[in-house]
Amino acid sequence: MELPFAESFKIKMVETIKKSTREERERWIKEAKYNLFNLKSDYVFIDLLTDSGTGAMSDKQWAAMMEGDESYAGARSYYNLKNSISTITGFEYFLPTHQGRAAENVLFSALVKEGDIIPGNSHFDTTKGHIEFRKAHAVDCTIDEAKVTNLEVPFKGNLDIAKLEKVLSSNPKEKIPFIVITITNNTAGGQPVSMENIKAVSAVAKKYGIRILFDSARFAENAYFIKKRESGYSDKSIKEICREIFSHGDFMTMSSKKDAIVNMGGFIGFRHDEDFRACQMYNIMFEGFITYGGMSGRDMNALAQGLDEGTEFEYLETRIKQVEYLGKKLDEYGIPYQRPAGGHAIFIDAKKVLTNVPKEEFVAQTLGIELYLEAGIRGVEIGALLADRDPETRENRYPELELLRLAIPRRVYTNNHIDYIAAALKNVFDRRESIKGGYRIVKELPIMRHFTVELEPVKR
Ligand code: F0G
Repeated sequence: MELPFAESFKIKMVETIKKSTREERERWIKEAKYNLFNLKSDYVFIDLLTDSGTGAMSDKQWAAMMEGDESYAGARSYYNLKNSISTITGFEYFLPTHQGRAAENVLFSALVKEGDIIPGNSHFDTTKGHIEFRKAHAVDCTIDEAKVTNLEVPFKGNLDIAKLEKVLSSNPKEKIPFIVITITNNTAGGQPVSMENIKAVSAVAKKYGIRILFDSARFAENAYFIKKRESGYSDKSIKEICREIFSHGDFMTMSSKKDAIVNMGGFIGFRHDEDFRACQMYNIMFEGFITYGGMSGRDMNALAQGLDEGTEFEYLETRIKQVEYLGKKLDEYGIPYQRPAGGHAIFIDAKKVLTNVPKEEFVAQTLGIELYLEAGIRGVEIGALLADRDPETRENRYPELELLRLAIPRRVYTNNHIDYIAAALKNVFDRRESIKGGYRIVKELPIMRHFTVELEPVKR
């Protein structure tokens, strides 16, 4: 008999999570003004809000923390991390930061000016935020296939080279500080970018003399998909593929809370000494001295170890197979999601589930609340609430897709939890026709409203 797949770890420490009753959840979500961000985590049984900073560290990471060197300058832990970053990414220079958006803040302070144009593939919210805050423009060049959830495309995170070239050819070079390649493409569903596409972007970038930034939060998951799906890579190690990816970049920003499996941390990697120098001042102002930048020595040690573990094939296979397992369960039940299953999450196509809820009543948010009421599971809306209002007209923006993201934390839940999630979704799916009313906004902030918005149900 062929042996089934089994996880490449065993469990040494556990944390209790508590179930609740539907009556309790109805009370709690009402008190939270129907905003899942406002719930106490104790009121959540399975938390799929994010895969960021929510992973379980290994025994080796915890052991490395005990050896952290907390010297203000030139700590051993800094050199340890420097060594790990240069081995895995090939970037010789780096600055530590407290998380990914802090890396963006430091790098963009040095490179982005008012009126600049920054093409890329579905810039992440904070990336876009840091661009727009500097009165520059993010231009999305993701391939159109990414918008069609039932299309099975192996590299749905890719950039459309024609769209990219149009931006590069129609703007002066001085206005384009870099192109962003987000690996994996979170917003498009945790979808990977192929090596072929990275090479094509690199060729166009060279032609126009523009540099490349990798937004690398989930670079190792991207490398796993290249190994599994792209011809010529099956015999290469994940670490070899990572080196090849980064060889096409001038810099990288990293949210270490994802693929480096730590609870807090980030960094910027640089190819060129002059960029490294230009960012040092901002790092000192915003983050801390250049050899700790917002991280303690123990955290840098855990990160150095996490980068190594996070780029091991066995670990990645365990991780991504779990996300795939949830996708297969949903296939069994006929529940529509962004196909194929992504690296870190499943994105449910809420418009196809709740066909009776009008777009003005926040379809993906409604599905998120229904899933919470059903089983105490917390996902996150990627739809009209997140899309915010148009900054000029103040009208609501309604994106083409209304998605409910179920992000799977690394090394945290078992496949029994996944079965539970799938069954809860099936129960909501089975009663979808009876869900007719969504939510209306009672209070909202002028930007990034989804974090704090207050809602009330629309009764039908
Ligand atoms: N880039 C990408 C692609 C991300 O997904 C994130 C964070 C960041 C940058 C910013 O990093 O949180 O460390 O400041 N994504 C989280 C998420 C929050 O839930 O997807 P950060």
